[in-house]
Amino acid sequence: MKLIASSEIKKRSIKQEGIISLSQGITEYAFDDEIKNLLIKCIKDESAIFSYTEQSGIKQLREYIAKWFSDKLRRNVDKDNILVTNGAITALACVFLTLLNPNDEVILLSPYYPSFIEQITLACGKEIIISTKERKQLVENIKKKISQNTKAIIINCPSNPAGMLLDKNEFQQIAELCYNNKIFLISDETYADLLYDNDDDDFARNIFQQYAQEYYIAINSFSKSLGISGMRIGFIYAEKTIITEIAKANDAISICAPALSQYFLLQLFENDLLVSLMKKIKNELIERRDILCSQLDLLHELFSYKKPIGGLYVFAELTKNENDIFFCDNLLQTTKVSLVPGSAFGEDGKGYIRISFGAKKEVIIEAMDRIVDCYKNPSKNI
Ligand SMILES: Cc1ncc(COP(=O)(O)O)c(C=O)c1O
Repeated sequence: MKLIASSEIKKRSIKQEGIISLSQGITEYAFDDEIKNLLIKCIKDESAIFSYTEQSGIKQLREYIAKWFSDKLRRNVDKDNILVTNGAITALACVFLTLLNPNDEVILLSPYYPSFIEQITLACGKEIIISTKERKQLVENIKKKISQNTKAIIINCPSNPAGMLLDKNEFQQIAELCYNNKIFLISDETYADLLYDNDDDDFARNIFQQYAQEYYIAINSFSKSLGISGMRIGFIYAEKTIITEIAKANDAISICAPALSQYFLLQLFENDLLVSLMKKIKNELIERRDILCSQLDLLHELFSYKKPIGGLYVFAELTKNENDIFFCDNLLQTTKVSLVPGSAFGEDGKGYIRISFGAKKEVIIEAMDRIVDCYKNPSKNI
């Protein structure tokens, strides 16, 4: 079995002296003392360190998550609809391992998060990739690819890498397609709480819930929205009977999500801090996105891009028809700034680069200053 898809991202995420990385999808956020003290409190409670928790997650935590998610879905969610996992990545693995039989097909949209392919491969399934370039024909193109072997469609909105968000019509049509064809709708919502310009941030979840009903499986993560990628915590929402099956895979793979992370999240809920912390982080990310975009505007002869309305990345097209891998390698050599070439995200990513605005403001400014300086004053290369 060959798993290579995300190697470009991993290769470029290695920390090295003097190199500034805008390559990794990490929200770097400095917690204030109130939050840090909650974490210290959890560490002092030995049960948060030495024990496993209930396999599906601490009961009280699942109750809080269910309540929080009820507000988002505008329907009653029970704790037994929730399975707490080691981040979204383990959630995806558990879902694919549970749903897929050998050669079952999963439809996904390109450019895509490369681990989708790895996860589908691990579960002996087959990916069916659909380009989003012909946007008007998207739903028709999905329809054409549905076969007897189609087990699921995976949607990731806003997406990694392009920050793509479908419109209400597209969401509804895809949900109806899933329902009518008895196909699971796996919604990777890793970035769903990082939407920047919407009146109703939960509209996609609501449409999926309403039109795909028992076929809707939501994969959620706190990595980006709370800036805790290292704590490895996320959850799955699905019908109870499906959660019961997925929980078996979760037990086999990881027993339970890290106890310390679960207790920390529980503290955030108990102290009514979760929503306000998410809001602060989101506002901070809007500022970082705007700083990055204003710097990119100085380089309009090099890049063309749309300001992302969600997620953590700018996905910029190289206007001079350059090879994206060559461009990123060259940039790393001349400026010591690391970005990810778009081809890491499939054919549709060729000729693009992904720039993360999860890094702290001063890091984004320093990195972009180096790039602007390099292209405006080529003789001054670092
Ligand atoms: C689309 C997508 N899904 C899942 C993940 C994994 O997230 P987690 O840290 O929760 O495992 C990522 C991480 O970058 C992602 O971009």
